[in-house]
Amino acid sequence: MTRHVSPSLLAADFGNLERDIRLINRSKASWLHCDVMDGIFVPNLSFGFPVVEMARRISEKPLDVHLMISEPEKYIDRFCRIGIDILTLHIEASRHIINAITQIQEHGVKAGVTLKPGTSVELLNDVIAAVDVVLVMSVEPGFGGQQFMEHTYQKVRKLKSMITGSASKALVQVDGGIDFTNARKLYDAGVDILVTGTTVFRSANPAETIERLLQA
Ligand code: DX5
Ligand code: ZN
Repeated sequence: MTRHVSPSLLAADFGNLERDIRLINRSKASWLHCDVMDGIFVPNLSFGFPVVEMARRISEKPLDVHLMISEPEKYIDRFCRIGIDILTLHIEASRHIINAITQIQEHGVKAGVTLKPGTSVELLNDVIAAVDVVLVMSVEPGFGGQQFMEHTYQKVRKLKSMITGSASKALVQVDGGIDFTNARKLYDAGVDILVTGTTVFRSANPAETIERLLQA
C-alpha cells in the first residue's frame, strides 16, 4: 500500500501563500489540501474561489479541495472548472450525495465523501462503490490545531473492511490532529493519505517533516 501526505494550506502563512505552495511543490507531498469553510456548516470562515484559483496556478501538485459548507451541490461545477483534482463533500451537508458524486466525476474530478467524527461509516454503504476517496475527520471540522480523536483507528479499520469487502477502489484519507504520535498507527489501520496542517507548516522544515511522516 502506498502512503501519501496532503498538507493543509489552512496552516500555511497567509502572508506568504505563494512561497508556501512552492515549498510543497518541492516536497514529497502527493496532493495539496484546501479547506473551504462557510461559517454555517462549521463555525469558522477560511477562503473560497480566489484562493483556490491562485493555488491552482502556483501548485504543481493535485489540488484536494475539502468543502465544509452547506448546500455544497451549488458550488460543484464552479470548483471543478478551476481545474482541481479531488472534490470532497460532507455527507451531513449533502441532500443528494449520489447525484453529487456523479456530477463531480462528470468533470473528470475525483469525488470524495467525508464524515464528521460522530457520523457512522455505515452511512456510506450505498455510495462506497461509486466514491473515489473517503475522508474520515479525526477532529470536529472547522479549525486546525485540534486534538486527534482516538476512536478514528477503529473507524478506519471498519471502513477499510467495508472497502475490501465490496468492489470499491476508494482511498482512505484522515484529517485533523495528525502528528508523529499517530501517523504510523493510521497507516497501519489502512489509511492511504494523511492530511496535516499544523505538523507540516509549523515545523522548521516542512519538506523534511513530510518525508518523515511518509516513513513514520
Ligand atoms: C479542519 C480541516 C483540516 C485542518 C487540519 O477542519 O479540515 O484540514 O486544517 O489541521 P491540523 O493538521 O492542524 O489538525
Ligand atoms: Zn480538511
